[in-house]
Amino acid sequence: MQIENIQFKQEGAIMYITIDREKQLNALNKKTILELNHVLCLCESDDDIRVLIITGAGSKAFVAGADIKEFANFSKREGTELSRFGHELLFDKIATYTKPVIAAINGYALGGGLELALATQIRIASDNAKMGQPEVSLGVIPGYGGTQRLTQLVGKGKAMELILTGEMISAKEALALGMVNYVVPQEDLLIKAIEMANKIIKNSPRAVRKSIQAINATYGNIGLLKEIELFGSCFGSEEFKEGVSAFLEKRKPNF
Ligand code: CAA
Repeated sequence: MQIENIQFKQEGAIMYITIDREKQLNALNKKTILELNHVLCLCESDDDIRVLIITGAGSKAFVAGADIKEFANFSKREGTELSRFGHELLFDKIATYTKPVIAAINGYALGGGLELALATQIRIASDNAKMGQPEVSLGVIPGYGGTQRLTQLVGKGKAMELILTGEMISAKEALALGMVNYVVPQEDLLIKAIEMANKIIKNSPRAVRKSIQAINATYGNIGLLKEIELFGSCFGSEEFKEGVSAFLEKRKPNF
C-alpha cells in the first residue's frame, strides 16, 4: 500500500504513528483510515512492538474530525457505510487491540479525532488541546464511537452535555472529567507518552493484552451498532445539507 497520509517509525518497543494531513488539520479521510489499519495490522504481528503512540502532525491539531469535504455529498447509505467502515477498520480495532495504544493529543481533537483518542487505551493531552464532539452543528451525530465511548468515560450527564451542545472544552476541563489521563505542556507531550509506554513495556505483554480484553468485556456493541444506523440516517437531510454547507462556506449554520 502506498502510504501518503501517515508517518510511522519504530524505536525500540514503541511504534510512533503520526497522522500527517496538517493543512487539513489531520482530518481522517478514507485513505488515512486504511493506512492506519494497515500499520495496526503490521504492528499486531510483530512481537517486538509492545506499545503504539499516535499523534497528529504539527502543533495545532491531533485530528479535527472525519473529513467533512469527503462526506459532504454522501447519501444515507454512504453515510452508514462510512461509519461502519471506520468502526471496523480503525476505531473498534484500536479499542480491542492486542497492544496498548496511547493517544498524544497535541491540539484539536474534534469529532472523529476525539473518537480516535477515546478508542485508545490511554490519553495524554498537551495544554493547548481542545476537545469536543461538534457533529450536531453539522447535522450529524458522532459516528465513530463517541456516543458510547465518551459516555463510558465521563458518564451520561456530561456526555449528553458535550454531544448536544457540540462545544469544545480545554485540556484542563477534559482532565477534570476523566476524559484524558494527563495534561502536560506541549513540549513534554511525547516525553510523557514515552514515560507511560515504558512503564507498560516492563510488564508481561500477555497480561497487558488480557487486561485490555477483560476491561473491554463490560461493554457490548449494541450501542455502537445503533450509532452507525443513526449516523447514517442523518445524511441527505436538509439539516445535514445546511450544516455541512455552513462549514464549507465558513459561516454559522442556520437550523
Ligand atoms: N474535515 C475536512 N477539512 C477540515 C476539517 C475536517 N474535519 N477540519 C478542518 N478542516 C480544514 C478546513 O476546511 C481548512 O481547509 P481549507 O484551508 O482548505 O479551507 C483547514 O482544515 C484549516 O481549518 P480552518 O481554516 O477551519 O482552521 P481554524 O483555525 O479557523 O479552525 C477548527 C479550526 C475549529 C478545528 C475548524 O477547522 C473546525 O471546526 N473543523 C471541523 C471540526 C468538526 O466539525 N469535526 C467533526 C467532523 S464530523 C465527524 O467527525 C463525524 C464522525 O464522528 C464520524
